[in-house]
Amino acid sequence: MTTLEDARALDVTDPLGPMRERFALADGVIYLDGNSLGPLPRQTIDRQHDAVTRQWGEDLIRSWNDNDWIGAPQRIGSKIAALIGAKPHEVVVTDSVSVNLFKLIVAAVATQPDRRQIFFLNVNLTTDIYTAGGAAGVLADHIVQTEQADDLADALGPDSALLMLTHVHYKTGARHNMEVLTEKAHDAGALALWDLSHSVGAIPVDLNGCGVDLAVGCGYKYLNGGPGAPAFLYVHEDLQDGLRSPLSGWMGHEAPFEFRDDYAPAPGISRFLCGTPPVLSLLALESGVELFGDTDMAQIATKSAALFDLFADWMDERCENHGLTLVTPRDPARRGSHISYTHPDGWPIIQALIERGVIGDFRAPDILRFGLTPLYTSHEDVWQAVDILGEILDDEIWREPRFSQAKAVT
Ligand SMILES: Cc1ncc(COP(=O)(O)O)c(C=O)c1O
Repeated sequence: MTTLEDARALDVTDPLGPMRERFALADGVIYLDGNSLGPLPRQTIDRQHDAVTRQWGEDLIRSWNDNDWIGAPQRIGSKIAALIGAKPHEVVVTDSVSVNLFKLIVAAVATQPDRRQIFFLNVNLTTDIYTAGGAAGVLADHIVQTEQADDLADALGPDSALLMLTHVHYKTGARHNMEVLTEKAHDAGALALWDLSHSVGAIPVDLNGCGVDLAVGCGYKYLNGGPGAPAFLYVHEDLQDGLRSPLSGWMGHEAPFEFRDDYAPAPGISRFLCGTPPVLSLLALESGVELFGDTDMAQIATKSAALFDLFADWMDERCENHGLTLVTPRDPARRGSHISYTHPDGWPIIQALIERGVIGDFRAPDILRFGLTPLYTSHEDVWQAVDILGEILDDEIWREPRFSQAKAVT
């Protein structure tokens, strides 16, 4: 039997325990949705205040130079690079994941005129599928989709331009083997593009070590950059000057303030910028990313595995016979940092949990999803969350009609 005392004992020796104080988490809330929207870092409150009142309010337009607003996309990109095994000049913060995917897919395929296929899985977040479809439409290229990454990799051939995969699946939490699949893409002469939205800040990622060509990722999940935080993109240094972004906006120009009529892309990663950056959001993201400077990804991975084991084992004991099925692989090497279960009544169950202060989320049609975020989730949080879920299931509280009402965002 896993006891509350067991969980508390793990918290006492947790080296990341003190990090929790760095977040403005409300009392009475167990927040298990940092895989969707990270919570507010306390330092972000002061930094946003400074950004609004001093940098914007007083320094006004001088801030582009004096507070280096103009350098923020590259500066923050270099900080994210340290979390994903990339070089500082290989990452830039810009746009959304969807827009970055579009830019990189089109850029990658356009450089390989005799290879026209784009490979990706149809078990993926919809935006990755939609964007690849949109890019293929623009390029008039051929899309190859299957449900299994290995099938996809095995089907790569002389006509393949790009293999595009999400590292950690947004529903199941299952992780692809980045090194093996990137190598398969390269063996076939194709480029590999990875979506790191559910891995950056959650698990160790080694883009350079795996020889990855291109990647994108989210700022508002594990990086705690705030709602709608800008995303980032990575381009291997050897590819940067050979690729052209199809969204050739002025911020990607080699000299935007010379206002020349001809478009000449900036050298390096900056060519993937497009329009004016959202400065306040960038600065909030920078604050979230900097919190990782006081820790390391190995510690985060170790704690993530411990939180997962505690959640899964305690669920087996506390919530057995309630029809919940674990869909996340138990092997830490094969998953990210969230844990998911299926249940036909997942939506009302999650709503009942949220009312009790345990915030997870639901992904249609039947997934209950819980983010295990080592910077601020304690072992006690996990124990209590499972216990409260057990109460809701034992007493069938979720059957109350108010929990079945639809909402715009799940
Ligand atoms: C795999 C994946 N890609 C992309 C996104 C988000 O893309 P965007 O920043 O365009 O909203 C998410 C968000 O949940 C995601 O899970």
